[in-house]
Amino acid sequence: MLRLLFVGDVYGKPGRRVLGTHLPAIRDAYDFIIVNGENAAGGFGLNRESAQAIFKAGAGCITLGNHTWNNKEVHTLFEDGRVIRPLNYPAGAPGAGYTTFTVGGERLTVVNLLGRVYMDPNVDNPFSLMEDLLTRPDLGTVFVDFHAEATSEKVAFARHFDGRVAAVIGTHTHVPTADTRLLPGGTAFQADAGMTGPYESIIGADPEGPIQRFLTGLPHRYVVAEGPAQLNAVAIDIQGGRATRIERVTHLEQ
Ligand SMILES: [Fe+2]
Ligand SMILES: [Fe+2]
Repeated sequence: MLRLLFVGDVYGKPGRRVLGTHLPAIRDAYDFIIVNGENAAGGFGLNRESAQAIFKAGAGCITLGNHTWNNKEVHTLFEDGRVIRPLNYPAGAPGAGYTTFTVGGERLTVVNLLGRVYMDPNVDNPFSLMEDLLTRPDLGTVFVDFHAEATSEKVAFARHFDGRVAAVIGTHTHVPTADTRLLPGGTAFQADAGMTGPYESIIGADPEGPIQRFLTGLPHRYVVAEGPAQLNAVAIDIQGGRATRIERVTHLEQ
């Protein structure tokens, strides 16, 4: 059996802080931990320091999303394959969209994909990319971080690949969804894992900037919110490439 923990988008310093204090306390319960780090560096992208902090807390793999290229240090982080970016970028883009790890003698492939509904429509089709990827031998158990806005696209993706991948967990909206479940074919699913970041915020940012933007229609600066942070994650048990259990894991700083 493989016990995985997937942690939703780490947002800025508060996200790194709650990850750094809480993950070490629970990491021993899992065989492998995957963390989405697309907002770890001040809300925008991943830099070397944040990647190091996420690995130190217990992550075995960091996935990304639409903020992948926001911090140029990310280019230096792809070498050992533990940081992956969405697979949808054209051939020749830096980094890889999946990596196969060996965990307790079992193969585990972590895949990162972007959805296209209300997102950049220029990236390649995630459905056909996943089909192509699944023709490869030796992937072992497959985990997908599906970074997308629309729940319809996330549910469609999970249902289409139900039974062929162990888990499809959504990221990007920063709001955890209450649809945590096993699909009939044995794929664990949750439309969004939620973020790991400031609790009193609007998807990680201090509320003032986004509210002013909605009120005035003018650009306003987004700053990382202060105060207690919440960790949002899902725990998944997998046997023979299929999920047998999925459960939300959440922790709010005092
Ligand atoms: Fe995000
Ligand atoms: Fe995102």
